[in-house]
Amino acid sequence: MNVTHLECAACGLKHEARRLHNLCSQCGKPLLVRYDLKSAAASLTKESLRQRAPDLWRYREVLPVEQDENIVTLGEGFTPLLRASRLGAKMGLNRLYIKDEGQNPTQSFKARGMAAAVSMAKELGVEKLAVPSAGNAAGALAAYAARAGMEAHIFMPSDTPRANVIECEQTGAHVTLMEGLITDCGAEVGRRKEAEGWFDVSTLKEPYRIEGKKTMGYELAEQFDWDLPDVILYPTGGGTGLIGMWKAFDEMEQMGWIGSKRPRMITVQAAGCAPIVRAFEKGERFADEFPDAHTTASGLRVPKAIGDFLIIDALRASGGTAIAVTDEELIAATKEIGAAEGVFCAPEGAACLPALKRLLEDGSVQQDERVVLFNTGSGVKYIESFSS
Ligand SMILES: Cc1ncc(COP(=O)(O)O)c(C=O)c1O
Ligand SMILES: [Zn+2]
Repeated sequence: MNVTHLECAACGLKHEARRLHNLCSQCGKPLLVRYDLKSAAASLTKESLRQRAPDLWRYREVLPVEQDENIVTLGEGFTPLLRASRLGAKMGLNRLYIKDEGQNPTQSFKARGMAAAVSMAKELGVEKLAVPSAGNAAGALAAYAARAGMEAHIFMPSDTPRANVIECEQTGAHVTLMEGLITDCGAEVGRRKEAEGWFDVSTLKEPYRIEGKKTMGYELAEQFDWDLPDVILYPTGGGTGLIGMWKAFDEMEQMGWIGSKRPRMITVQAAGCAPIVRAFEKGERFADEFPDAHTTASGLRVPKAIGDFLIIDALRASGGTAIAVTDEELIAATKEIGAAEGVFCAPEGAACLPALKRLLEDGSVQQDERVVLFNTGSGVKYIESFSS
């Protein structure tokens, strides 16, 4: 299709497409997929999209899979952009929206990334996949690997929500629960992958998950009729979705679909694990590992993100910021959003609401601005987080 090469996001070194890669061979940072966007834009047009299926493969020309038969799909993407009038009115906002990623297969936005990663793994002849996960990436990998007839080897902290563990087992994955955090799980995958013949699909250590996630940016543009919103609040762990959307905006500009104006990108983290917030506030580009990371929003319990500099670059370039909210606030917000709008959010998604309140209080969001809260998953997976 239109992939020209992979490029290191830090040192710019080019890597050959159509080969298995993890990180940059020179500096160990993430690789990004580059396309011949002129060629992509010849058949992928705003008009052509009207005829296409409502899933993320509608943006086929800017996705990395070459052969259609390698696409592994469960119907991911094209989730609704819900107008949240009732919640907006409570806060004095006229144009508030929720992008409801909980409606994806496996009930989270992780389905997008894993659909792309597993499809590419199939195309490149991989048979065994491994991942460290906070929970939702595991559930998504397990499902897509099963769909592709591949093995999935999953490593999660032992206190991962039960639903994530059960869904992996019931979709045939090999599950290992470990004492410690996602970083410890990642180290275990790193130690064993060579001997076991596993391909490591950790966030940003594999170049294609971000390609699946970037479709959230394409969808937002399409759903807002090619006029991007003013503010995007995004619950950030590894940051793939935020980095992916930022990449999508650039690709769309290069294809002539949008102008140079960008939404203000807001990273939302939990106070118990806020490495990006801390680095952003200190004016740094790389984030130190966050000590004693803890939060009930398990997807946000990522003490060290390999794409930290890409997240922070996007926040700064967009005029955005990074905000930490407490577990108490994000759990209360789940009910507030649910009761006002009927969307039972994952606690990670709900965390966007207290962050938005903070921005309204300090006057950095205005009442007529178009604001999008990213609900990255479904609350149904987090029964332990809620007491009735
Ligand atoms: C529901 C949910 N929201 C947000 C995140 C963080 O996602 P990202 O790694 O793209 O920052 C995760 C990651 O596990 C998640 O499961
Ligand atoms: Zn490099």
